[in-house]
Amino acid sequence: MNEMTRSNSLRDEGTAYGRAKPHSNKLLTEIGPRTPCGELMRRYWHPVAIAEEVTATPRKLRILGEDLVLFRDRKGRPGLLYPRCMHRGTTLYYGKVEDEGIRCCYHGWLFDVEGHCLEQPCEPDGGVHRDKVRQPWYPVEERYGLLFAYMGPPAKRPVLPRYDHLEDLEPGERLIATIGGFGATGDASFDVLPYSWLHMNDNIMDPFHVQVLHSTFSGAQFAPDFRLMPKVDFFYTESGVCYTAVRELEDGQEVDRISSWLMPNIMSVPSIHLAPGRSRGISWVVPVDDDKYYQVMIAKASQDGGRFELKINGTTWGEKSEEERQRFPSDFEAQVGQGPISLHSEEHLATSDRGIAMQRRMLEQQIAIVAQGGDPLGVAFDEDKATVAVRSGNFYRRI
Ligand code: FES
Ligand SMILES: [Fe+2]
Repeated sequence: MNEMTRSNSLRDEGTAYGRAKPHSNKLLTEIGPRTPCGELMRRYWHPVAIAEEVTATPRKLRILGEDLVLFRDRKGRPGLLYPRCMHRGTTLYYGKVEDEGIRCCYHGWLFDVEGHCLEQPCEPDGGVHRDKVRQPWYPVEERYGLLFAYMGPPAKRPVLPRYDHLEDLEPGERLIATIGGFGATGDASFDVLPYSWLHMNDNIMDPFHVQVLHSTFSGAQFAPDFRLMPKVDFFYTESGVCYTAVRELEDGQEVDRISSWLMPNIMSVPSIHLAPGRSRGISWVVPVDDDKYYQVMIAKASQDGGRFELKINGTTWGEKSEEERQRFPSDFEAQVGQGPISLHSEEHLATSDRGIAMQRRMLEQQIAIVAQGGDPLGVAFDEDKATVAVRSGNFYRRI
């Protein structure tokens, strides 16, 4: 190699040319029916709607790569059915809700909330074989002002969890449920976020982005003390991962911020204003498709507390110009910036990503357990074991 060639080869090292074809971690990002992660997800209850918004007008719902129709019959029972009528396939979205269920618009077959066919009005004697057919359905239960669906194998249906920090409402407190894309934007600009659920899921165990993205890069978007670099540790819990992030404050105290991730898509983040005490909420990152999700949050609020809407750098996400989003990016920009589904083969996980590695490892282990016929962490089949302990909070102490 002559001098000229050698110096060219050194100078050209690391250019973008000829890099390996990138790919995503399909094991963790594909959530449709019959995918390994989809099977794991289907072993848990997922929130699908704010309970009071589900009425006798059928609603379309897409979740875990499946289209469904959600309604409440006139006796008040919520129903979640496969939308294609089992007779000749028109959608029950155009059905009419009655006391006992939903009646298909085309030939009037009537289905109850568990898919039983109650009437076939065009058939002799109202359909003598109607009990031989069943419209595919999923169980729905109501808690904390939300409707939850279970989309997994019937024999593996767990009890619907309770969360201990939501069970001790003070007088005058109530729970407020919000559904949509607010987790990344802080407002209601999106019903559904246009990228993989895993981006938001990773974000939960990422205490360092709080110091950079939300504090020093984009200005103080949350508590001013987040500018202090924390001492961080990560630890496994019974069914998830927590981080502890300790900051020494100028007033001689330290604050230990403990944040939780629970299998498979649940987070409890403490107050972003570093208000002292236990976390006052919990959220789910619910996959819609491989490249879309919605988020559901329940938070404790005082009696006159309103819906969640976050102002960052003085404005809501929806009020910001493109230039402001470039100058003061927040979670949405960082996460949508990873693409519709991040290219995991191009990642370089570092020390600060240990919590994310722990989360992903737990997901992969639990996917394998489900594939082998076992039960994943965080499901309980006994009502006495339904309550989950949530550790999250901002805990202050004197140094
Ligand atoms: S297509 Fe629904 S009743 Fe015929
Ligand atoms: Fe964030």
